[in-house]
Amino acid sequence: MKSELRFQFLVSVVAVAASMLAGYAVSETMPQALAGPESFASIADADTRSAAMFTELGKVLTHPRCTNCHPAGDRPRQGDLSRLHQPPVMRGADGHGLPAMRCSICHQNANFEPGRMPGHPEWHLAPREMAWEGKTVAEICAQIKDTARNGGRKPEELIHHIGEDTLVGWAWAPGAGRSPAPGTQKQAGALVEAWVKSGAACPAR
Ligand code: HEC
Ligand code: HEC
Repeated sequence: MKSELRFQFLVSVVAVAASMLAGYAVSETMPQALAGPESFASIADADTRSAAMFTELGKVLTHPRCTNCHPAGDRPRQGDLSRLHQPPVMRGADGHGLPAMRCSICHQNANFEPGRMPGHPEWHLAPREMAWEGKTVAEICAQIKDTARNGGRKPEELIHHIGEDTLVGWAWAPGAGRSPAPGTQKQAGALVEAWVKSGAACPAR
């Protein structure tokens, strides 16, 4: 066997074993829709309109495809039911895992369907201060605007990050057995843009 093949075989075995350990249940649901900015045009008050658009964006932010990589603890989560990652892995100092168990050992540059393995060249966990798991949409909104917790990003930078970043984009092409994030990445980017341009207001809850 060529070493790459042998590696892929190993990954498949790990994936199957992990699935069995977790009592795997496929729970892929129908893709969810996302309303565009125009759906909110009739709300006259800018703050109310802005907040309503963020609430819609919240369908994406609180989706398992996003929260599994933005967990509250040090372990990523897996699948539509967001169970703890099997095998056990930790975020490590840089979000790429502990020295002996780097994410890239298993997660390659692209999804590997035979092993149901998600992949991307930059596959790693969002920093602890960017955790969204278990938070309300209002809490995520406040956090995303707080430069102490958002990596120093201005709201305008989120237009590109959510609308075009390819790691975020994985969530809309996650491979078989995983529901994609609602709508399309482009629609999510349009919502962020309209939210920013209408004053980036946060919903009350
Ligand atoms: C030993 C192999 C292995 C290592 C190392 C590993 N993973 Fe995984 N990971 C998997 C497998 C297998 C799956 C797919 C399991 C499934 O959902 O059936 C997976 C799935 C995931 C998912 C689920 C995606 C989703 O939304 O369903 C996330 C998130 C994830 N890994 C993050 C990480 C991070 C971050 C690291 C490094 C800190 C890491 N993994 C290290 C094997 C590994
Ligand atoms: C494979 C893991 C992974 C997945 C999946 C993922 N993220 Fe992230 N996310 C990260 C990492 C890592 C960072 C930190 C990147 C940085 O700061 O440069 C991050 C940071 C972010 C930020 C910046 C946070 C802030 O407070 O400004 C946003 C916004 C974001 N992600 C959106 C999303 C959305 C929306 C999804 C789902 C559609 C998603 N992410 C899915 C890993 C992931």
